[in-house]
Amino acid sequence: MIKAVLFDMDGVLIRSEELSIRIGIDYFASKGIKVSEKDFAPHLGGGEARFFQGPARDRGYDIDLKDASAYFRSHYEKLFGQTDTKLPGTDIVKRLHRAGIMTAVVSSAPEWKVNANLLATGIDRADLDLVVCENAVKRNKPYPDIYLSAAISLGADPAECLVAEDSVSGIMSGKSAGMRVLSLMTTISASEAAAAGADLIWSDLGACPVFTTAEEFERIIDGDSGVSSEGVLYGAHRVKPLERRLPDGETEKMMTEKAWMAWENAYAPYSHFRVGAAVLSAATGRIYSGCNVENSSYGATICAERNAILQAVAKEGIIGIDKLVVVSDDDPPAPPCAQCLQVLAEFSKSDTHVVLISRKGERREYLFSELLPNPFIFPDLRES
Ligand code: THU
Repeated sequence: MIKAVLFDMDGVLIRSEELSIRIGIDYFASKGIKVSEKDFAPHLGGGEARFFQGPARDRGYDIDLKDASAYFRSHYEKLFGQTDTKLPGTDIVKRLHRAGIMTAVVSSAPEWKVNANLLATGIDRADLDLVVCENAVKRNKPYPDIYLSAAISLGADPAECLVAEDSVSGIMSGKSAGMRVLSLMTTISASEAAAAGADLIWSDLGACPVFTTAEEFERIIDGDSGVSSEGVLYGAHRVKPLERRLPDGETEKMMTEKAWMAWENAYAPYSHFRVGAAVLSAATGRIYSGCNVENSSYGATICAERNAILQAVAKEGIIGIDKLVVVSDDDPPAPPCAQCLQVLAEFSKSDTHVVLISRKGERREYLFSELLPNPFIFPDLRES
């Protein structure tokens, strides 16, 4: 069970690495030393001393750390407000707090920088159980000390902690502390993150699906599709749906938008009849879309609905479908064909909603059972 999520600050909750590197390059230039962005890359995420001493030593120089720190602070404070520092998904901190999971910022940066950054993220301090800076430990990242000290302060076992990082030093620090590490691709590539030992890789925190309970968050991190014998029966399988999610209206709006976007890509040179579809996965709240793709051999055509369902299965494995939106030019709006209804039957329950929307804006809503009252499920998988 995940009891605490420990967030690194720079490159995770705030976009500040580029500014830091720019100041670093300027500092070295002021000493007559020419360095470039890539000279800093291996030394990111390990605190200020490493940030400056790393590139210096690599080039056979010694620098005065006090002097470098003072230069960095004065320039950072001056330039910080002038750059776009927002990173998506930082509301995860509030959502974790509400779900009863402890949250902490564990940064190898000095306290003044952590405070300035925190203020800029807009994160409510009341949603954070702990803030740890470089002065908490002698040995900074990639040593495990700072993450271990955070776990001790929170009263959590390292195995119950999830670390969110963006740098090689940070990932190594979290892994050697015995924690699970989620890496974001804000600073390093997915292959670098994987090589450093990341258990999970997201583009940024905005990639986190909606969750409201600790159990749902755990499921997201485990990559668990929610298939469970205690779940709700969706066609041939039991799936645990999310307890709460976005309000229905908002979900439908997003699904409709995605369905129309897919509609744009419909490949229908024979029928010229374009269709877009979107399905909502019950276990993750994610939306998958598809369009119809026709074929020179007409019968090999794939409808939009099946395309969307197959996209969902390819990403999540077994799915439960809570809702299907189908958009077309047809008037009244086209319903799923019999083949699509059969594919839908495999992953739907009788009250899965099917919403049909036309270009003119006509909307019709059905329950799956109205469209296919007696679906066929193979005897071995059928539950009586
Ligand atoms: N089509 C769909 O994509 N979904 C439906 O529910 C009805 C039909 C597509 C298949 C084919 O490309 C075109 O519409 C005409 O049948």
